[in-house]
Amino acid sequence: MYTVPQIEAARLPGLLRAMPKAELHMHIEGSLEPELIFALAQRNGVALSYADVESLRAAYAFTNLQSFLDIYYAGASVLLTEQDFYDMAMAYLERAVADNVVHTEIFFDPQTHTARGVAMAPVIQGLHKACVDAEKRWGISSQLILNFLRHLSEEEALQTLDEALPYRAYFSGVGLDSSEVGNPPEKFARVFARCKDLGLRRVAHAGEEGPPAYIWGALDLLHAERVDHGVQAVHDAALMQRLKDERIPLTVCPLSNQKLQVFPDLADHNMPQLLAAGLVATVNSDDPAYFGGYINENFVQLFAATGMGSDEAYQLAANSFEASFVPQSRKQAWLGQLQMAFAEAARQS
Ligand code: ADE
Ligand code: ZN
Repeated sequence: MYTVPQIEAARLPGLLRAMPKAELHMHIEGSLEPELIFALAQRNGVALSYADVESLRAAYAFTNLQSFLDIYYAGASVLLTEQDFYDMAMAYLERAVADNVVHTEIFFDPQTHTARGVAMAPVIQGLHKACVDAEKRWGISSQLILNFLRHLSEEEALQTLDEALPYRAYFSGVGLDSSEVGNPPEKFARVFARCKDLGLRRVAHAGEEGPPAYIWGALDLLHAERVDHGVQAVHDAALMQRLKDERIPLTVCPLSNQKLQVFPDLADHNMPQLLAAGLVATVNSDDPAYFGGYINENFVQLFAATGMGSDEAYQLAANSFEASFVPQSRKQAWLGQLQMAFAEAARQS
């Protein structure tokens, strides 16, 4: 049994930044920084309804999920070519490496692009090539997870799956995102059943703004192996017990929750409660270009606001490896690296 070294509070931010970690909930379109949005708009001759980078950034004052999604889909409208998708993903992967992310499972929203006349090929191939090049250049491993937009119909999701299947080798799983309330998981039961038959891994956003019933639905009707967000689970004791017993991970996104007013004050975030209940909770950035920080910023601000310490830091990093879709042997190797990072921090303390 491993005993976590206790690291003094002043050294905790450094440890949070230095420790190896996996990121499992990050929408690649949400990593588009305003500067890159304007650069791509210019390269592609796309008109934007904001005059410059500053006025676009000034519009990032969100009241709920939908107020964010409206701006997020507008930002994605500059993406047209394989090179655009490649550049966007390389920028994220380089940033993730700087945060000591050793593995990432990247969400992408093909329907946001195919609906504008962009073909599936440049989307998936551009993202895939970036994943390959980033691993060669920086050693970071990645997988792609295709997300269906839940505000659209299941027929459209099934059609999207068909369009993506020629590139089946390039994505490991599917997910469900976009406007949650009013679009319950049961809407997508057939497409997720088909994905399961195809051997695809399954995740779903549930319990971000929506009720615990949507988390039950994600598990029972979509056969989700991980729940994205899931923070509303605390309102249902039986659900908490199930998540704990079955070790179903939650990919939690603290700065997203703060910016979208799920927990307007980060000090009120329920991460300490999720960990104390024994859940496999993880920290992720969701849409880092829009919510004020990449994964390390999520860790550092969450710990500063809630007063969590080195036990929770270790648990969250270990959880991120456990929750990832990689073979057990790689998880074990990452745990070894994690313990070395803690030993190094303890030596400096
Ligand atoms: N798409 C991008 N970010 C999202 C979020 N936080 N919830 C639902 N859909 C999203
Ligand atoms: Zn998300």
